[in-house]
Amino acid sequence: MKKALITGISGQDGSYLTELLLSKGYQVHGMIRRSSTFNTGRIDHIYRDPHNGDKARMRLYYGDLTSTDSLQNVISEVEPDEIYNLAAQSHVRVSFDMPEYTGDVTGLGTLRLLEAIRRTGAKVRFYQASTSELFGSASPPQSEATPFEPQSPYAAAKAYAHWVTQNYREGYGVFASSGILFNHESPRRGETFVTRKITRAVAAILAGKQEHLYMGNLDSKRDWGYAPEYVEVMWRLLQHDEPMDLVIGTGESHTVREFLEEAFGYVNLDYQDYVRIDPQYFRPTEVDFLLADARKAKDVLGWEPRIRFKDLARIMMDADLELLGLEAPGDGKCLLAERFDGWHRWEDQIVSMDK
Ligand code: NAP
Ligand code: GDD
Repeated sequence: MKKALITGISGQDGSYLTELLLSKGYQVHGMIRRSSTFNTGRIDHIYRDPHNGDKARMRLYYGDLTSTDSLQNVISEVEPDEIYNLAAQSHVRVSFDMPEYTGDVTGLGTLRLLEAIRRTGAKVRFYQASTSELFGSASPPQSEATPFEPQSPYAAAKAYAHWVTQNYREGYGVFASSGILFNHESPRRGETFVTRKITRAVAAILAGKQEHLYMGNLDSKRDWGYAPEYVEVMWRLLQHDEPMDLVIGTGESHTVREFLEEAFGYVNLDYQDYVRIDPQYFRPTEVDFLLADARKAKDVLGWEPRIRFKDLARIMMDADLELLGLEAPGDGKCLLAERFDGWHRWEDQIVSMDK
């Protein structure tokens, strides 16, 4: 039975990756940050308390990417076969307010993890969560060959992490791969990223709990995909014979305004009646146009996205409507159930984590 260690297990991608790996029979170990309130909402449905006689399927450890000792300890204790480094201060706008912290966690944190691997001599396969933000102002479409032009402290920190991952691959022979993932969303997306902010607001407006939605730049274009499909690529990348960098995206790009039209239109509302602009959401430098050229992913891994822009907006709308007890007009849940039935039923697999 393979053992995986996931940093950022409590995040959007960490939770989906955990489900995927459990469905494949892995033992899953995850690092979480100590917090004064619970921060495990996305993985609580997976957790079983071994004190109740349940077999634990996933084990959590306190740690932080800013703490070298915690990284070394968890690697020595778990002895993982695969490490997925998903932890980061991942919000671009916030990185302008906290540039030093973002550099420390998102940039240096990756170095600390790689150095812990090197020093402990662990024979692991390492996945680094690189990002389309690296491309910044580079002209679309963007592929593995496109030069990086980072436009934020977040992107600069991710560029450092990307290059240092490549350096440990080449310099020390670490099996280290980077997935350069374009934006990917889901009902578990953090509430302050633009898609989820919009779908939550539409549901709240429909429920009479919110009057207006305050937004920033509506003209930027993003290549939005569906997170469960993207975590599958992370896993596939580490099963490949050779470590590499790989771009993952849908090859379809839409403006924020189009996402507003789609989400509001789904419940027969006109976004222009509700949306107001608040300059506090503008960024000092913006990434205008991201569009993936993911041909290598298709050639090398046979990977292609199935969920596209309209389906994605509907899946997210249905989930946020349901959270507020509202009727969903669409078929988002059917899409979810039909297309991801295979590994969303991970409960069928009993994975013992007891040592
Ligand atoms: P997310 O939901 O923001 O999750 C980030 C995770 O990192 C959370 O578990 C968070 O813990 C953890 N974390 C934050 N600071 C930490 C620290 N100092 N030490 C340890 N853990 C820390 O992000 P996501 O959307 O799942 O994305 C996963 C990764 O992919 C991130 O590295 C992100 O930058 C990258 N990425 C995301 C996208 C995308 O569109 N989603 C695209 C490309 C790349 P808490 O729960 O305690 O906050
Ligand atoms: N968050 C947010 N809030 N964004 C807004 C808003 C708003 O009110 N109004 C407009 N936007 C615009 C942003 O300016 C940006 O152009 C676009 O919506 C998308 O913003 P986010 O959803 O915050 O995502 P991001 O593209 O900046 O970053 C995400 O994707 C990256 C991959 O390209 C994050 O998940 C990063 O961690 C990830 O690396």
